[in-house]
Amino acid sequence: MAKKRFYITTPIYYPSGNAHIGHAYCTTMCDIFARNKRMRGYECYFLTGTDEHGVKIEKKAQEAGVTPQEYVDGISEQFKKLWKTMEISNDDFIRTTEERHWTIIQKVFSHMIKNDDVYLGKYEGWYCTPCESFWTDTQVGENHLCPDCGRPVQKETEECYFFKTQKYIDVVNDWYKLPESVYPISRKNEMINTFIKPGLSDLCVTRTSFKWGVPLLENPKHVSYVWVDALFNYLTALGYGTSHDELYKKYWESEDSEIIHVIGADITRFHTIYWPEFLASMNLRLPDRVFVHGLIMMKDGKMSKSKGNVVSPYPLVEKYGVDAVRYYLAREIIFGEDGTFTPEQFIDRINNDLVNNLGNLLSRTVAMVIKYFDGVVPGFKKGINPKDNELEKLAEETIKKNEEDIDDLHITEAYIEVMNMLDVANKYIEENAPWNLAKDETKKENLESVMSHLIYTLFVGAKLLEPILVNKSQEIYRQIGLTSEKANYKNIHDINICNGNKVTKGESLFPRLNVAEEVKYVASLMKNN
Ligand code: MSP
Repeated sequence: MAKKRFYITTPIYYPSGNAHIGHAYCTTMCDIFARNKRMRGYECYFLTGTDEHGVKIEKKAQEAGVTPQEYVDGISEQFKKLWKTMEISNDDFIRTTEERHWTIIQKVFSHMIKNDDVYLGKYEGWYCTPCESFWTDTQVGENHLCPDCGRPVQKETEECYFFKTQKYIDVVNDWYKLPESVYPISRKNEMINTFIKPGLSDLCVTRTSFKWGVPLLENPKHVSYVWVDALFNYLTALGYGTSHDELYKKYWESEDSEIIHVIGADITRFHTIYWPEFLASMNLRLPDRVFVHGLIMMKDGKMSKSKGNVVSPYPLVEKYGVDAVRYYLAREIIFGEDGTFTPEQFIDRINNDLVNNLGNLLSRTVAMVIKYFDGVVPGFKKGINPKDNELEKLAEETIKKNEEDIDDLHITEAYIEVMNMLDVANKYIEENAPWNLAKDETKKENLESVMSHLIYTLFVGAKLLEPILVNKSQEIYRQIGLTSEKANYKNIHDINICNGNKVTKGESLFPRLNVAEEVKYVASLMKNN
């Protein structure tokens, strides 16, 4: 049975550098899901934030000559600003340095100590500071490189508390049996084969070699390991453990709520092994889905400052508009698979899909309704032209498929279908050649039918694309004469919704881009970082 409510989260990002296109990718995909759900009448709570403790941040602040708090205050503001610019509809933004968060982390540790889930010991092993992860000798190999990011790891020896990972391993194994718990399945199998089958070591959950973290009430020289601190953001943001825990009850505890974590492939281990274990230790419900998306790479590999290939979303949004950037992210890289950012593909995607397909369909259709019917959309008629039924059926199927795909977080696939429908509508114009029908008085009904089918298809397309094209969908409604009240999702199946509307010619929806010029511009942005 479909759940009535949704709780969707992004990872909380490290404010160790400014946000880049990778962060924007994950947040935009979650935003599309949240907007789609709300538009369809569901309640959806959408959380993002920043992960502000740990040795990495402490070092960055030192390098910058400011306190860690000053450092994170500045960068987390940048993240908030970016989400505003990208029209992200998050309901909350959690920072792990907020009191509402860290006081609960202290309570979590008190519980784990009382529950005998942790014990005091000494850590001797390897640590990757950029990933904030511990590794064993075998995992780092002869060259002492982090298995996740490939950077050199450091040897660490310090007193710490260990979490008894074997105590809750059955909970993880049982959760893995649920088909939707981890997607794609290959990520789950990777966890089983790489970490669970070889035998999971106990996890070091506190640190004593630096200060920038949440101190334990029971033993304040220990600060929380940043990953324990970070994972619990999903609960602290809902007021878990406080007297004002209404959101927690509504979105976590309630069986009517579907809990979805969206994460990048780099942090699967923490979310699909340790997080369920921590939740089990706290006697709490596990998430319904952890959706693992791929990483955006550059032609020369991972984005990194040293390579000078980091892409900032700001100049892209400034030049091409927020809708185009959101569309590119949703459509170009299949959600769940790795992808590559190239200036060529970025410009091509906008020109092919938004200018040639969607924009063209709108401008041609509106121009023809003006030319042949004085701007008034003729009443919908069924089955007049040979391809009418096909287009109608396609619209129905596209709506259904789009809903199913979004429900499964197959976001890219959901929009491939929509763009295909628009493409078919453009071909339908060619097949019916309205310019010929207009010359023949006896074909008036045929012409009326073509126009009303096109306008309805445009409504369906704009409505389905609205979670991505947050601004341009409104412009489409305006041009096809739909008030915001009428352009409601509940009317999406109503083929008569546009009958008698007055259309308005507007500016072209997306200006055509000069490929050579714009590719050069986007490439220059990558070098300037
Ligand atoms: N702070 C931790 C997460 C804690 S969640 C309880 C962290 N932060 S991060 O800033 O390094 O990365 C977080 C997420 O950003 C990744 O999991 C991924 O979703 C997204 N991305 C960061 N770089 C990315 C790409 N190059 N491509 C796509 N997404 C990327 O890990």
